[in-house]
Amino acid sequence: MNDRMPKDIIVVSGLIKRFGSFTAVDGIDLRIKEGEIFGLLGPNGAGKTTTINMILGLIDPTTGTITIDGFNILKHREVIKEKMGLMTQETVVDGDLTAKQNLEIIAELYDMKGKDKDHAVDNALEEARLSEFRNAKAGSFSGGMQRRLNLVKSMIHNPSILVLDEPTTGLDVQNRVDMWDRIRKLNKNGVTIILTTQYLEEADSLCNRLAIIDHGKIKALGTPAELKKMVSEGNVIDISLRFEDIEKAANAIRKNLGVDVKITADRISISAGKEDVKQLSKMVALLEKEKIPIIAASMHLPTLDDVFIKLTGSTIRDALGEQQSNASKVMWRR
Ligand SMILES: Nc1ncnc2c1ncn2[C@@H]1O[C@H](COP(=O)(O)OP(=O)(O)O)[C@@H](O)[C@H]1O
Ligand SMILES: [Mg+2]
Repeated sequence: MNDRMPKDIIVVSGLIKRFGSFTAVDGIDLRIKEGEIFGLLGPNGAGKTTTINMILGLIDPTTGTITIDGFNILKHREVIKEKMGLMTQETVVDGDLTAKQNLEIIAELYDMKGKDKDHAVDNALEEARLSEFRNAKAGSFSGGMQRRLNLVKSMIHNPSILVLDEPTTGLDVQNRVDMWDRIRKLNKNGVTIILTTQYLEEADSLCNRLAIIDHGKIKALGTPAELKKMVSEGNVIDISLRFEDIEKAANAIRKNLGVDVKITADRISISAGKEDVKQLSKMVALLEKEKIPIIAASMHLPTLDDVFIKLTGSTIRDALGEQQSNASKVMWRR
């Protein structure tokens, strides 16, 4: 193997999952490189968990193949147990057991015994900064503590690939940043990371490469910088308007300025390229002429939210609303 070319450690081809007549995963192809942090970014119901559950052999694909380090996982289930760890979306720690007992059970599942087991459990407790709470019931822990326990649980057998399903959903900012640091550190130590997220900032700051997934399909795949370049090499202009004016404003701008206008619930956006200031003043002048009041106008470098708008026609926030998700948990705003 050439050292400068990391190998594709996970290869997913033509992956489809149907539940009855509903297609949750609709033809996904992925190549995840050894040593990278790879993200699946998409709103609730996009098919993220279903995809990783198939990669982990927890559910079988309707069609498609998955190989891990060259082994077809349907024929070599043992490869998954040996190489992969999973931190599920729901924190699964047993509240009636102590931190130590929670870890011991998992260590035993991985056939660890005696000193090996004690050592692995001690290390995990230390890594989670829970050593002094080892004999406290996990049910008494804060959300952040439980999530840390959950993370080290998934790492007890030292897997070379770690899958994290929405590792920070519902965490406050401090615990989120702490989790990001832990993920980066594991990756620095050589662990390949696959994570799913609904958070743009998380995908942007953590992932080497990411796939934007919606309705079971990959809409785009690349580094955060590559994806943003798809939107614009220059600034994006946003103009916030009253809801009832949006359609009219978009049409006027399309007709008079001949630019592509994206519409979302509370604003219109254009990719301005190099002439951004000129474009902005033209838009403002036009809207004034049309007597359409402007609530706010701004320019910014493209974000992953802009990428999502370009690909799907809605903000991820809107897409989440469509899925009637728990809005309080969602942070798609810039
Ligand atoms: N076991 C199942 N039976 C029926 N539908 C399912 C099942 N699991 C997931 N789905 C549906 O598949 C879609 C994708 O779900 P999921 O992979 O959990 O999305 P995500 O993790 O991106 O939020 C959703 O519409 C969900 O309701
Ligand atoms: Mg999920």
